[in-house]
Amino acid sequence: MGDIGKEVTLAGWVQTIRKFGAITFVDLRDRYGITQLVFNEALNTQLESHPLGREFVLQAKGKVIERTNKNGAIPTGSIEIDVQQFTILNKSAVPPFTIQDDTDGGDDLRMKYRYLDLRRNAVKKNLELRYAVNRSARNYLHENNFMDIETPFLIKSTPEGARDFVVPSRMNAGQFYALPQSPQTFKQLLMVSGYDRYYQVVKCFRDEDLRADRQPEFTQIDCEMSFVEQEDILNMFEGLIKRIFKDVKGIEYNDAVERMTWEDAMWNYGNDKPDIRFGMRICTLKKPSTVFAEKQDQSILINGANFQVFDGAEAVLAIAVSGGAVYTRKQLDELTEWVKRPQIGMKGLAYIRFNEDGTCKSSIDKFYTEERLKSIVDAAGAQKGDLVLILAGAEERTRKAMSELRLELGEQMGLRKKDEYKLLWVLDFPLFEYAEEENRWVARHHPFTSPKPSQIDTMINNDPVIHDAANYLAHPYAQIKANAYDMVLNGNEIGGGSIRIYQRALQEKMFDALGMSQEEALHKFGFLLGAFEYGAPPHGGIAFGFDRLCAILGGSESIRDFIAFPKNNSGRDVMLDAPSTIDDAQLNELNILLKNS
Ligand code: AMO
Repeated sequence: MGDIGKEVTLAGWVQTIRKFGAITFVDLRDRYGITQLVFNEALNTQLESHPLGREFVLQAKGKVIERTNKNGAIPTGSIEIDVQQFTILNKSAVPPFTIQDDTDGGDDLRMKYRYLDLRRNAVKKNLELRYAVNRSARNYLHENNFMDIETPFLIKSTPEGARDFVVPSRMNAGQFYALPQSPQTFKQLLMVSGYDRYYQVVKCFRDEDLRADRQPEFTQIDCEMSFVEQEDILNMFEGLIKRIFKDVKGIEYNDAVERMTWEDAMWNYGNDKPDIRFGMRICTLKKPSTVFAEKQDQSILINGANFQVFDGAEAVLAIAVSGGAVYTRKQLDELTEWVKRPQIGMKGLAYIRFNEDGTCKSSIDKFYTEERLKSIVDAAGAQKGDLVLILAGAEERTRKAMSELRLELGEQMGLRKKDEYKLLWVLDFPLFEYAEEENRWVARHHPFTSPKPSQIDTMINNDPVIHDAANYLAHPYAQIKANAYDMVLNGNEIGGGSIRIYQRALQEKMFDALGMSQEEALHKFGFLLGAFEYGAPPHGGIAFGFDRLCAILGGSESIRDFIAFPKNNSGRDVMLDAPSTIDDAQLNELNILLKNS
């Protein structure tokens, strides 16, 4: 409104054209929004000989005037421009979809014409948020003395975790570079070099199966610090996330970030990235003796009632749904169908209604007395009026299914509120994971993560070979915990890191534990082992999934919405039509012969 009376020149894209008798109204869009232009009678004649179309690039000179019919929905809704002169800077073909918030363009079409999709306000807002997160992170890290140092993209292939993307070398026939899955070893080398606080907002490349929260190339806020312990890292980086909340969302996150061990996360939520915006914890009624050895077994509550489904199951888990006793038969049938879907893979769902009058009504009445039902209901922590849902089966699958069911119920009950943010540190991950096909240990985080100091001896003094595969959990390595931590936001892993090994002997033992021969370890990581001989400081770090963080802060499930030029679920860039074949001359130069050519 303050601009009324001013002479202005605007340039932008024609969003809509409306004719009212001798007057034409045009909505002109630029990066900053939409402004209404008014073409009076005199200019209309010019418009007739130079007709405008959607997405034409237009420059208009005129005077800012007050609008008679104000539009409260847009910031410029109370003014318009009385155009005195205009130039069509460029024409446009008819766009393949409408460039509006609610576009009629499907996903594929929008990706093919991503440069048009990016004109839409909804996408622009996402990129603006991404830039705000980037700026906020850089400011915080700069203020805390972190230094941005670039690391190379053409590196050596050392697949561990995901598959590498490889790049053939023309100058070294038959040899390949790999694109980094993360700058992990470089940031550690930088610590050896004395750059005690490093960061980088950096592209990482992983050839893995894609999901809504995974892209083959994605961005990390990658950080490393020297002379630190886990506590220092946790403090520094919850500071980073809190700063981002404040700068980007205006949220003062004053609460201390909750902390939970990996074991408690798995036990109570069936998941290593629990959504703690709501409770509904899992109650373990029965567990196999080897898993969660320390935790209490309650199988006495359910065993021996001649109910084969529970008697024969490895694990029996329950959750209490607050106020759920009123669920209808139909709702319970729907939940049963839900857990039977192949993605969840359970055979069925048992329930106990804990009625307001204190009685129990259940799908397992035939096997359990009212008294026993009551003790199960109590164990599950249910109150009168609640519903207890029970799943039984193999430990891992059942825990995963219960975790999914908990999230689904949380969603249905509106407990996963979009505008509520709950941060969580998950700590004390197992150092190793068992790889069944190869009967060996793999690093749960990566091979540079250190064990808990008190367990270094267990690692050094035990043979990593697993002699009894069926009983791998009894191997001492299964109990070793890592000095590793993940940051979880609303049920999403937004970052992960660890305190590193920094002594050659322990690093060599780690490679040995992972089944790597000495030659292989030297061939793949000789540079790092060498560097550890020249005064490597104790160090540790973390990397945040930048795209994921942006998506969550922007209230979206899909990280693609926050990447300017993303790939689709098959890893294709449909706009570029990449990947693509290359011609024979290029292949020849690279000394590559394709198998089927
Ligand atoms: P990690 O592999 O846990 O750790 O990755 C760190 C974070 O990056 C995000 N992320 C992804 N985001 C999008 N698409 C993907 N394909 C993808 N993969 C991972 C996640 C994850 O938490 N070098 C170590 C970090 C360290 O130890 O300092 C690393 O890369 O949000």
